[in-house]
Amino acid sequence: MLNIIRLSTIIFLSLLPLCSLARVTGPCVSCHTMHNSQDNLWVTDSGAPNPALLVADCIGCHTGQNNGINTVPYVFSTTPPQYSDTGTEADTNTLSGGNFYWVSNVDDRRGHNIFGLAGPDATLTLPPGGDATFTGQLRCAGSMGCHGDRTVSEQISAVKGSHHYKDHAIWQSGNTLATSYRMLNGIQGFGDDSYEYHPTDLQHNKYYGLDRTAEAETAEGSISGQCAQCHKFYHNGASSLTTSGTFGTGVWLRHPTDYDMSNAVSSNEYQLYNNSATYGDNIYSVISPVATADTSTTVNSKIFSQANDAVVMCLSCHRAHGSPYPAALRWDYKAWPAAGYNGCAVCHTAKN
Ligand code: HEC
Ligand code: HEC
Ligand code: HEC
Ligand code: HEC
Ligand code: HEC
Repeated sequence: MLNIIRLSTIIFLSLLPLCSLARVTGPCVSCHTMHNSQDNLWVTDSGAPNPALLVADCIGCHTGQNNGINTVPYVFSTTPPQYSDTGTEADTNTLSGGNFYWVSNVDDRRGHNIFGLAGPDATLTLPPGGDATFTGQLRCAGSMGCHGDRTVSEQISAVKGSHHYKDHAIWQSGNTLATSYRMLNGIQGFGDDSYEYHPTDLQHNKYYGLDRTAEAETAEGSISGQCAQCHKFYHNGASSLTTSGTFGTGVWLRHPTDYDMSNAVSSNEYQLYNNSATYGDNIYSVISPVATADTSTTVNSKIFSQANDAVVMCLSCHRAHGSPYPAALRWDYKAWPAAGYNGCAVCHTAKN
């Protein structure tokens, strides 16, 4: 006991100057318990201590309803979140990743079936497009998850040293876990401070993407490359994307990602990206967003304003956590045109 107290006191003192710069703020006691004991009762729900002396686990801290003021990004709500058609309208309360509510309460198709939030996916036992080495149920972090160091199995250990050292003001270079976009190890980007609560063309995540020239290119550090860690062949792999084997020529076998729209010279269809009376030409669309190769902290509010800033990515169409729609899509692709929403038309402007 004494050792624990002494150790935490030392850590407490040595952390003080860092805490004022760090993104996790507030009294230690809001998030940490020294002995996992209060009136001789467990502090955690699970009945076993959480690693790093925490009062809750990932899901415990990240469950709630977003209101634009909360500093913890909530990714799971126990009551139905507001999503509307595209998750970007003024009455919505989801964040950029969407929400695990629907996969937990509606069906397996609405998102990633995370352990603790939903049962294992009854149909998809492997990540589609993946290489069959990933078996077992997904978690938030670690070797079975998306966040943190994917070589570490225990979840909190996998994100160790990131919550206290997040600096939202700098480009996330991916060089360390703390400087990785949303704690996705090695991934670059620049996150919106409010995690895209009510995003606009001026206030949104800046996703990192690359304009590839060969279909085997993994695009290290790109957001689509992150998805490819498990869904490999949807993103890269010889003979998996094009008929000709040469990326960007001929017709596609799977929808391109990490591919810049300015390559598509066959028509001016893509040059009219987000061409609507409301938005005007080429304004960044938060409904069907694109990634960019630009690594500055200037938010990309217009596309085709510099090289490789119109990169199609997995998140042009999907939400990473989940959505009210099948395949965790950003809008209801299947129900359109009777109902639903045609987000494809933001890019395929000649096809609606
Ligand atoms: C809002 C919640 C929150 C508050 C407040 C908080 N922490 Fe943490 N802390 C975390 C989380 C989450 C982790 C584990 C994951 C990680 O390291 O990213 C953590 C990890 C740690 C770690 C181990 C990893 C590392 O970065 O060294 C130490 C030590 C720590 N906290 C000390 C403190 C101290 C001391 C305070 C008060 C000054 C404090 N924390 C306040 C959430 C919090
Ligand atoms: C004790 C509460 C607590 C726990 C446990 C916790 N988090 Fe967090 N998390 C927070 C808070 C508070 C923030 C907001 C910090 C900030 O503003 O950067 C946050 C932010 C994040 C972010 C966004 C970081 C960014 O780039 O802006 C991610 C991703 C995340 N947590 C993932 C996790 C994962 C995965 C786990 C479990 C391994 C976890 N968290 C456990 C409290 C917690
Ligand atoms: C750590 C591995 C891993 C990563 C990284 C990952 N996925 Fe998945 N994904 C899975 C697994 C496993 C399944 C199947 C089980 C399930 O749905 O939970 C799946 C299923 C899916 C589904 C189908 C959901 C359904 O049930 O129809 C979509 C869509 C999807 N992933 C998109 C993405 C996107 C987009 C990214 C990147 C932001 C991503 N995934 C990153 C492992 C991963
Ligand atoms: C142009 C839009 C678009 C892009 C970009 C896109 N997807 Fe999809 N994805 C869809 C649609 C639509 C579906 C569901 C219907 C279908 O399979 O055609 C789907 C289905 C899926 C599924 C479920 C497949 C199954 O077998 O049930 C996974 C997994 C998935 N996508 C992952 C990804 C990953 C990973 C990327 C990036 C490498 C990506 N998607 C890029 C539109 C897209
Ligand atoms: C972010 C922009 C974007 C979005 C959103 C998008 N696409 Fe695409 N799509 C592209 C680009 C760029 C190409 C490649 C065009 C080329 O090579 O000439 C493409 C290619 C295609 C192709 C293959 C054409 C060929 O020549 O082989 C089809 C089919 C397609 N998309 C359908 C869809 C559908 C359906 C959706 C909605 C679910 C969708 N796309 C959403 C940008 C987008």
